[in-house]
Amino acid sequence: MPRFSKSPKVAISMRGEICVGFASLLSFVSMLLLIFVHVGQINTSTVPRNIAMVKVNMSGYGEALETFILNPVFGLYTDNASAPLQQQAGVRELYEFGLYSYCAYVDDAHGTCSNHTTGQRYTPYDVITADMSSNYSILTGPFIPETTFRDSKYLGQSSRAAYWMLLLGTICAALALITGIAKNNWTFFVSAIFSIAGSLLLLIGAAIWTVIIKKSQSINNILLRLPNSNTTVGLGITVSEGNGLFIAWAAFVCLFLSIIPYMLSCCTYRG
Ligand SMILES: *[C@@H]1O[C@H](CO)[C@@H](O)[C@H](O)[C@H]1NC(C)=O
Ligand SMILES: *[C@@H]1O[C@H](CO)[C@@H](O)[C@H](O)[C@H]1NC(C)=O
Ligand SMILES: *[C@@H]1O[C@H](CO)[C@@H](O)[C@H](O)[C@H]1NC(C)=O
Ligand SMILES: *[C@@H]1O[C@H](CO)[C@@H](O)[C@H](O)[C@H]1NC(C)=O
Repeated sequence: MPRFSKSPKVAISMRGEICVGFASLLSFVSMLLLIFVHVGQINTSTVPRNIAMVKVNMSGYGEALETFILNPVFGLYTDNASAPLQQQAGVRELYEFGLYSYCAYVDDAHGTCSNHTTGQRYTPYDVITADMSSNYSILTGPFIPETTFRDSKYLGQSSRAAYWMLLLGTICAALALITGIAKNNWTFFVSAIFSIAGSLLLLIGAAIWTVIIKKSQSINNILLRLPNSNTTVGLGITVSEGNGLFIAWAAFVCLFLSIIPYMLSCCTYRG
């Protein structure tokens, strides 16, 4: 049956196309997710700004401080959403750290963001005490125990290193996608290399963020013993993962999965 003699080759070619398409789709999704993580902090509209790597909820801190010093706490917080940051203008309810800036919210919707910087350092203790008037920052010094939460040098350097990993990983994802468009075995090989390098970088970046968030979360469970009593109080500070962390992990998974079809394509593609 000569009419069908070409069909195995056509089938392989079809499979090759599907394989390449699948790899391109995965690296595209990975790049898109990473762009969200990056742009989430640059954009000033409400929705994308909500993409943050880590959140620090300060809402219980005033009450904890009040219980501890046995005196009413006035003026620790500000409810002015546009009050300047790091000017002793008052603590905000919620702080969100991203890759390029951090934002401080007085309620669910209103807040202000810091100036943009390349590789925002995650230094929650410094940022928050800089918002307190000086009498409260003096009180806070001995009140918040020495945990990783206070270790701004470690947290700052690690978050900055993680930023560069995520940025380079994003570039690799984009390059994998672009080189994979020119359909031949060599470009697929190059795409596979970029996918491998990119997923490694994303793995390191996302892992560093996960570790520093987990370590700074030790603040969540700290209980302080009140003077002359057996009662303990929490600090009222809660650190939690932001959605940016999960998006970064999802981007890693997508890019990692794209390695296999890129490799299959570079070995089997007959263009
Ligand atoms: C902060 O924590 C408090 C108490 O745990 C909670 O009621 C509040 O909803 C939290 N705020 C945000 C913005 O998550
Ligand atoms: C809020 O802060 C801004 C900036 O410092 C200031 O211009 C404004 O007057 C403040 N608003 C209130 C109600 O205090
Ligand atoms: C942000 O940038 C403005 C203008 O460049 C500058 O005046 C201000 O001091 C900066 N704020 C901080 C917190 O660095
Ligand atoms: C604290 O607990 C110890 C033993 O559990 C008890 O002897 C002591 O009286 C308690 N002190 C106060 C102030 O409740």
